[in-house]
Amino acid sequence: MKHIIAFAGSNSKTSINKQLVTYAVSLMPDLDVKILDLNDFPLPVYGIDLEKEQGIPKVAHDFLDNIKNADGIVLSLAEHNGAYTTAFKNLFDWMSRIDGKTFAGKPMLLMATSPGARGGQSVLSIAQDRFPRHDAIIISVFSLPSFGDNFLDNHIKDSGLDAQLKIAVSKFNTSL
Ligand SMILES: Cc1cc2nc3c(=O)[nH]c(=O)nc-3n(C[C@H](O)[C@H](O)[C@H](O)COP(=O)(O)O)c2cc1C
Repeated sequence: MKHIIAFAGSNSKTSINKQLVTYAVSLMPDLDVKILDLNDFPLPVYGIDLEKEQGIPKVAHDFLDNIKNADGIVLSLAEHNGAYTTAFKNLFDWMSRIDGKTFAGKPMLLMATSPGARGGQSVLSIAQDRFPRHDAIIISVFSLPSFGDNFLDNHIKDSGLDAQLKIAVSKFNTSL
């Protein structure tokens, strides 16, 4: 059985991106799924001086090990001011100091959602440009706009958007 990891690029305890990730992986019953939470990987703010003085925290190695041991990655990015959240960028920065090939050639289903009509498209563009430089193989991309209108009771209620996600999931599954 293939093993994947799934997580949100957010440290919110009520993360809408984690809700989306959880729904997306519920559509993958034939996979062994480990859902990770950035709150379980607390890290100091990256700084070159801190790295020189104390090295790279074990937590960053632990998260990277999860990536390296997975057959694929499902990630939904929260968007803060048009970019990654601080929590995600910080983890990414630390991990990139261990290995520039941070995403280890793993297939990725990349998603984002937000309460707004753009559904995190700015952060998705940033990630689509950047992640392949860190050895991510982005298989499919999905944005869920207006989360409050389109997501209810743990699923996407707009049938067109739900169909889009299912196509993205199917492509991801096939790539594993
Ligand atoms: C500091 C801050 C900046 C934000 N900037 C954006 C933004 O640029 N675009 C957007 O769609 N939503 C923005 N939002 C709203 C977030 O999309 C919203 O808080 C969402 O719930 C974040 O996802 P999460 O619940 O998975 O953490 C911002 C929220 C905060 C707190």
